[in-house]
Amino acid sequence: MSFTIDHVSASYGGNTVIHDVCLEVPSDRFVGVFGHNGSGKSTLLKCMIGRIGAMAGDLRFDGHPVVPDKVHRNVMLGIGFVPQTQNVFPNLSVWDCLRIAAMNHQPMDVAVLDLFPAIANRRRARAGSLSGGQQQMLAVAMALMTRPKVVLLDEPTAGLAPNLANEVLNSLQDINRKTGTGIIIVEQNVVTALRMAERAIIMKGGRVAYDGPTTELQRQEDLWHYF
Ligand SMILES: Nc1ncnc2c1ncn2[C@@H]1O[C@H](COP(=O)(O)OP(=O)(O)OP(=O)(O)O)[C@@H](O)[C@H]1O
Ligand SMILES: [Mg+2]
Repeated sequence: MSFTIDHVSASYGGNTVIHDVCLEVPSDRFVGVFGHNGSGKSTLLKCMIGRIGAMAGDLRFDGHPVVPDKVHRNVMLGIGFVPQTQNVFPNLSVWDCLRIAAMNHQPMDVAVLDLFPAIANRRRARAGSLSGGQQQMLAVAMALMTRPKVVLLDEPTAGLAPNLANEVLNSLQDINRKTGTGIIIVEQNVVTALRMAERAIIMKGGRVAYDGPTTELQRQEDLWHYF
């Protein structure tokens, strides 16, 4: 199973920001998406979940078209999405956040909580009262409630202290290993994420500058020239 991204471009207000992207991304691996600010990483993820209307080209998941502007439908294909900001309901309890996320995917998959002991113990707490790292874990747990085959995450460790960032990344690696759920992650902690990811995609100026195994990338002396 995979994403097939075939000559995809996307624009905001007529301004094209990703150009002619062609990728075949397996949906059961740990894949890192890297690149400078403004290189098109978030836009690529938005295309993959259909969160952007102005998209040209063909994008399929598991053979099914990912339809622009139809996030709810695309989620049903087995794609989870964790946006960078506003990804939990701060005024609701942890449990209610999870219940709402699971609404269209009954019965609720309570086993997800076993992956996150730190939040499993805080079911009654207000989501907004959790630490930054715990809120990110809750956001991931909410995405897992839709029983995705793959989860797309946009900088889930942004703004976190290094130890919390590592905790979140380790949880994601655990999820990938224990459940086989694919992880496609935009991450600014390049060194840590490269260690975890099997595959890297590097965006530069809205185009794919590198796409391949991380082992190959790490062998290259000057991998930074891709950035
Ligand atoms: N909602 C928007 N409206 C107009 N332009 C946008 C919008 N979102 C992104 N852009 C532009 O599209 C380009 C790619 O942005 P994108 O957010 O995909 O980059 P990114 O690689 O995720 O950057 P960052 O690392 O800063 O998150 C940038 O030039 C950005 O200014
Ligand atoms: Mg971004």
